[in-house]
Amino acid sequence: MPIDPRIRRVQLPIETPRTLLRLPNRGDVADLRRSFRDPRTASALGASLHSTQERRDPSRMVRRTLQEYARGEHLSLSVIGRESGRCIGRAGLRGLDWKWKKVESLSYWMDPRYWDQGLTTEASWFLCREAFQRLGMRRISSSALEGNAASLAVLRKLGFVQEGRERQAVVVKGRAMDMVLFGLFRKELVPWKSLACAPAPPS
Ligand SMILES: CC(C)(COP(=O)(O)OP(=O)(O)OC[C@H]1O[C@@H](n2cnc3c(N)ncnc32)[C@H](O)[C@@H]1OP(=O)(O)O)[C@@H](O)C(=O)NCCC(=O)NCCS
Repeated sequence: MPIDPRIRRVQLPIETPRTLLRLPNRGDVADLRRSFRDPRTASALGASLHSTQERRDPSRMVRRTLQEYARGEHLSLSVIGRESGRCIGRAGLRGLDWKWKKVESLSYWMDPRYWDQGLTTEASWFLCREAFQRLGMRRISSSALEGNAASLAVLRKLGFVQEGRERQAVVVKGRAMDMVLFGLFRKELVPWKSLACAPAPPS
C-alpha cells in the first residue's frame, strides 16, 4: 500500500532519551497482549479506542495501525524502552486533519510496570513536537476522563490548556462520567528542559 507522503515527514523512529517511538510490528504482539491482560490496564482501558477483539488479539491492532498510517489518518506508535528493547506502551497522534492542520487527539497508554516514571510525558512531548515541526499542525486536542488523574497530569505537564468538559460523555461501570477537554498550540508546549522527567535529549 502506498504511504501518504505527508505523514512520512516524521522520520521514524523518533528517539527520546529513554524510548524509541516506531511503527508497531508483530514482535510487539506478545508485549501488548501481556499488558492488556494486566488488570490495571484492563480497567483503565474500559473506555478506550481498543476493541475487546483487539485486546484479545493485538495483531489486529498492529494491522489496523499500519493501514491508518499508510492512509495518513493516524500516527500511532509503539513506545520501545531503550534499555529493554521491549514494547512498553503506545503513543499516538490520532485524527490528522490536514485541511485545518490539527490533531484530534493525543493518545497514550503505558504498561503498568512502567507507570509514574515520566515515560508517557516524555514520549508525548516528542510526538507533539513532531506534530508542530514536521507535520505543520497548528493545534493538538486531547481529552481525559474525569478521575483519570495520571492522564490529566500528563496533559497538564505538557502545557495543554483545559478548554471545557463533555458532560457525562462516557459510561464506565454503569457510571456516567465527564470527559475533560484540552487543547495545545505550538507556543504552549512546555520547553523540554522544564519537564521534571527531562534527561538530556539524544544528540
Ligand atoms: C495515563 C498513563 C498513560 C500515564 O502514564 P505514565 O507513564 O505513568 O505517565 P507519567 O509518568 O508521564 O505521568 C503520570 C503523572 O500522573 C501522576 N499521577 C499518577 N497517579 C496519580 C493520582 N492517582 N493522582 C494524582 N496524580 C497521579 C504521576 O505522579 C505523574 O505526575 P508527576 O510526574 O508530576 O509526578 C497511564 O496511567 C496509563 O496507561 N493508563 C491507562 C490508559 C489511559 O488511561 N490512557 C489515557 C486515556 S486513553
